[in-house]
Amino acid sequence: MQHVAVDPKLIATIADVTPTVLAAMSRTSDPRLKTLMDSLVRHLHNFIIETRPTEEEFEQGLRWIAALGHHTHETNNEVVLAADVLGASTLIDLINNDGMQGETMSALLGPFYRGQAPDCACGDCIARSETPGPVLYFKGKVTGVDGAPVAGAKLDVWQASPVGLYENQDSGQDDFNLRGVFRTDADGNFHFTSVKPAGYPVPTDGPVGDLLRAQHRHPMRPAHIHFIVSAPGHKTLITQIFSDSPQALATDVVFGAKTQIVGHFAEHTEPHPDYPDTPLPFYSCEYQFKLVEGEPTYPVPPISGTKS
Ligand code: BEZ
Ligand code: FE
Repeated sequence: MQHVAVDPKLIATIADVTPTVLAAMSRTSDPRLKTLMDSLVRHLHNFIIETRPTEEEFEQGLRWIAALGHHTHETNNEVVLAADVLGASTLIDLINNDGMQGETMSALLGPFYRGQAPDCACGDCIARSETPGPVLYFKGKVTGVDGAPVAGAKLDVWQASPVGLYENQDSGQDDFNLRGVFRTDADGNFHFTSVKPAGYPVPTDGPVGDLLRAQHRHPMRPAHIHFIVSAPGHKTLITQIFSDSPQALATDVVFGAKTQIVGHFAEHTEPHPDYPDTPLPFYSCEYQFKLVEGEPTYPVPPISGTKS
């Protein structure tokens, strides 16, 4: 058999692939894109060389990635969910929000933030349709890391119902049930009424569910309420306030729970003078959100949430 010499050399061995691909990408003009893609290719190639997937395994992996796209639509973002259950979202969160200046710790946005929630007055109830479950009175304060109140801060709040579903997943709930936007008063205070959140399973009817079952992992998130806290001159805080057992917090399927953001949800079994007509038991929670100075930003919602 005759070999035709080609110059420059073509790929001949495993060792030739990575340098050839890096050379092909070497003219990338955006330096950050170049750094990210060079590193991604090096790590991806090393992963492949280390694990030596069969062709069937490679095809299966590609089908799993394609299925993430096929299961992403107006009310579900399977790509975000995959990043969450693999711990990638929490790593990115901790790298970008380390809490080192005394600000409240952040937690992942998750796939169920849909934006456009109705503006509410302090004290409003965010349960907009029949939502069985114990009443929750939430009182919050927004301050700087020095404790000075932040007036006019915006709080975008959302939570799952006590049956464990966000309104966009559940035809039994009204549009924007358990979602609302509040603003702090001159003393940095806000409050709202809701129902006590419950733990819930992340969606398991797609490729992420297949992976969790193969890994013998439960799909549960501990009970929590989501907050985006933003104010001029302050870095936006995306977080969750948790209420659940230590075991549920420690085994959060998306690794989102952190000690600093576990709230105290007090159970009230006796009538309370401030809320004499509230059915018992009910719950109350108070939490101080501390913002660090910086540029406010706002996340792009991963879903639009329109129910079909
Ligand atoms: C959530 O808290 O809404 C959530 C976060 C990650 C994955 C699924 C749900
Ligand atoms: Fe959630």
